[in-house]
Amino acid sequence: MPPGLDPAAGDLKQARATRKRLQLFSMASVSMRMVLHLAAQRRKCNRDRTNNNNEGGANANAPAPLQITDFGAGSGHLGLILAWAGAVALGDGAVAVTLLDRKGFGCDQSERRVADAGLAGSVAVVEMDALEYASPVDLGVSLHSCGVLTDIAHHTCLEQRAAFVLCPCCYGQLNDMAYAGRVARPRSDGWRSAGVDREQCLLIASGADFSPQPSKDGKRAVWDFGDDSNYMLAKRAMQAIDGDRLAAARERGYATLQRSLHPVTCSPKNNLIIGAPIPR
Ligand SMILES: C[S@@+](CC[C@H](N)C(=O)[O-])C[C@H]1O[C@@H](n2cnc3c(N)ncnc32)[C@H](O)[C@@H]1O
Repeated sequence: MPPGLDPAAGDLKQARATRKRLQLFSMASVSMRMVLHLAAQRRKCNRDRTNNNNEGGANANAPAPLQITDFGAGSGHLGLILAWAGAVALGDGAVAVTLLDRKGFGCDQSERRVADAGLAGSVAVVEMDALEYASPVDLGVSLHSCGVLTDIAHHTCLEQRAAFVLCPCCYGQLNDMAYAGRVARPRSDGWRSAGVDREQCLLIASGADFSPQPSKDGKRAVWDFGDDSNYMLAKRAMQAIDGDRLAAARERGYATLQRSLHPVTCSPKNNLIIGAPIPR
């Protein structure tokens, strides 16, 4: 991998860089499996279409690039790795990655990193609120998409029948009033018809944010939180909120999985939601 794509190459302290590496390794492994699955599906479609139409020509077996959008990309860690790994696994031009963020600072950093890694041909940086994003997506990814950003990414993917691999964070921000009328809650008909309302969802979400606690001497945070009962409660709350998100996807014809970053102690916000549309 180009050295600039390793978070340890930046100015992060060593322990933080190690945790970021682990988070990215989990996200990139799952996302790349999805990329390979989508690429195989697309090749098959392309072959079938070619056979049915009896098309010839040089482009008959050259599918368009898979469009991957990294929602809330920050300085582009995840999307850049996928652009590089996609080209290694499938060849140049097989994937096109968009790094989307509403903050100019992150976008400026992304642009520098894209250029340094020599990935300008396959990566675009877009500064925009995810709500306004309307470009085609085959796979939506996010690492630590805060609050409703996860729902916006998820909704965009469902609308476009795109696959998704999302790691939500900041569940407490789901009550962000700026988006209250735009993001309905609960997300699924199943939860709604069971009588769960928005206030109950927000109450569950308010228990989902756990932060590593200070050590006894107060000098550092304790990252070995896997057995902490407060973390376990928060994990249940994350799983419930994400369960509603995945139920909404299944209602729209998706196969879904709920997993965790590995090891879970690489981040207290370690829930992972994965979905792929079932071909009709
Ligand atoms: C916790 S950071 C994660 C950054 C990056 N994915 C990473 O793992 O390093 C969340 C990012 O999402 C962006 N963000 C939050 N809400 C957004 C929205 N509605 N539209 C676009 N970007 C958003 C923030 O600006 C921020 O850069």
